[in-house]
Amino acid sequence: MEKTHKNCPVKFFNGKDIPLEMHKVRIVQSLKLVPVERRLEAIKEGGYNSFLLKTKDIFLDMLTDSGTNAMSDEQLSKMFVADDAYAGSQSFTKFEKSVLDVFGKKYVLPVHQGRAAENIIAKTFVKPGSYVPMNYHFTTTLAHIQLNGGIVAELFTPEAMKIKSTHPFKGNIDIARLEEYILNKGPKNIPFIRMEASTNLIGGQPFSMDNLKQVRQLADKYSLILVLDASLIGENAYFIKKREKGFENVSLSAILNQMCDLSDIVYFSGRKVSSSRGGAICTNRSDLYYLMRDLVPLYEGFLTYGGISIREIEAMAVGLHETTDENVVGQSPSFINYMVTELDKLGLPAIMPGGALGCHVDARQFLSHIPQSEYPAGALVAAYYIVSGNRGMERGTMSSIRDEKGNDILADLELMRLAFPRRVFTLSQVEYAIDRLNWLYQNRQLVGGLRFVEEPPVLRFFTGRLEPIGNWPDKLMEKFRADFGDSL
Ligand code: F0G
Repeated sequence: MEKTHKNCPVKFFNGKDIPLEMHKVRIVQSLKLVPVERRLEAIKEGGYNSFLLKTKDIFLDMLTDSGTNAMSDEQLSKMFVADDAYAGSQSFTKFEKSVLDVFGKKYVLPVHQGRAAENIIAKTFVKPGSYVPMNYHFTTTLAHIQLNGGIVAELFTPEAMKIKSTHPFKGNIDIARLEEYILNKGPKNIPFIRMEASTNLIGGQPFSMDNLKQVRQLADKYSLILVLDASLIGENAYFIKKREKGFENVSLSAILNQMCDLSDIVYFSGRKVSSSRGGAICTNRSDLYYLMRDLVPLYEGFLTYGGISIREIEAMAVGLHETTDENVVGQSPSFINYMVTELDKLGLPAIMPGGALGCHVDARQFLSHIPQSEYPAGALVAAYYIVSGNRGMERGTMSSIRDEKGNDILADLELMRLAFPRRVFTLSQVEYAIDRLNWLYQNRQLVGGLRFVEEPPVLRFFTGRLEPIGNWPDKLMEKFRADFGDSL
């Protein structure tokens, strides 16, 4: 077998198993850690919502990998030769070729980002009374399906909700439940089945190829469309290679192709999958393409740019190819695995096994004294920011919605997500993130809950403002000062 630099095969003489980065950093951005007093003010100004913080107050920005992955020299150089044109741009032709090479799909509709693809797919296929089964929702997916009158069913397996597990594919859909659901609701009321690669909201957990094949069989049996959210497909393919029997020696490129081949429609956020800023929907079925096509000029822009800067289209074309490189897609999972393993040794509750996208900390265990109605994951994100300057994201009940009676629909999982954009952080920064989280865990009793003071009706987590229940943030800061002295 070929012996190359492919993902971290290098053994250390000291026996330590640490992720080795196979790239060098040539462009850097300086970071500042502002003092804890300023961090407390900043989170107050931001309504205890990490989306409302400003980067000048942030040390490690672990909010998301969306649009924040490091770009390669190849990507940046191609941006300078972009063929700016409203229609018929050669940059788009290159992008189409990349989609064909990497995803094996010939019809490509560009959109400005992933949720724009969801808008077009939902507007085209979802009607009042439609039922959409999936492994798990993403926030914007759910919102678009509901806005069009559809109902989402999440048919995950019991393993998906276990924080600590050794199951390699917690993102699998439950095949028996899926068939039962199709029969129960009637295939004609199901516009499509949706599978999300590296299922975001349950901790970036992948599904197996075998699972996808079984979904395909059901789709064929009941003549249903299979839609694949490929925003994190590179990482899912990486996990298939690492964890699924029979794929050890299959290239990522072949795995990606196979995953897309099983799906009728593939859409993605280019902000994630191709380390650039854009998105697309692709398919080999001309009937589906024509159903969706005319919405693109209406909502996005002409068919050869779709609201994306042409420069970014060049970067997407390169970025898609780079997604077939294990060194590119394997870096975040190996850092995440390192972090969750270290947290586990310290007794901190993180989702295991490590998935894609980020380290997910279980706020329900971390802050077991805070009821879900007081948003423990949101409180954990705010508290962690105060003690570290690192920005995470709430993925729990704050990111959920209310029912018709106005009660919170409690989330299945209460998570603080600490994202690892590709190739952005160093191992010493990861060590810092672990160290401050450990300190917070030792002082967790000081942390209290949050309540909304301003709450938008749709996607409230983006712009909603909250306040602490009690003056716990001040007490937390005082304890920090007592323990850390003059240190930031
Ligand atoms: N699908 C998945 C699985 C996603 O993770 C995202 C975005 C989208 C769709 C929407 O794409 O942001 O380009 O409009 N996830 C980001 C995140 C926002 O932080 O996880 P988008």
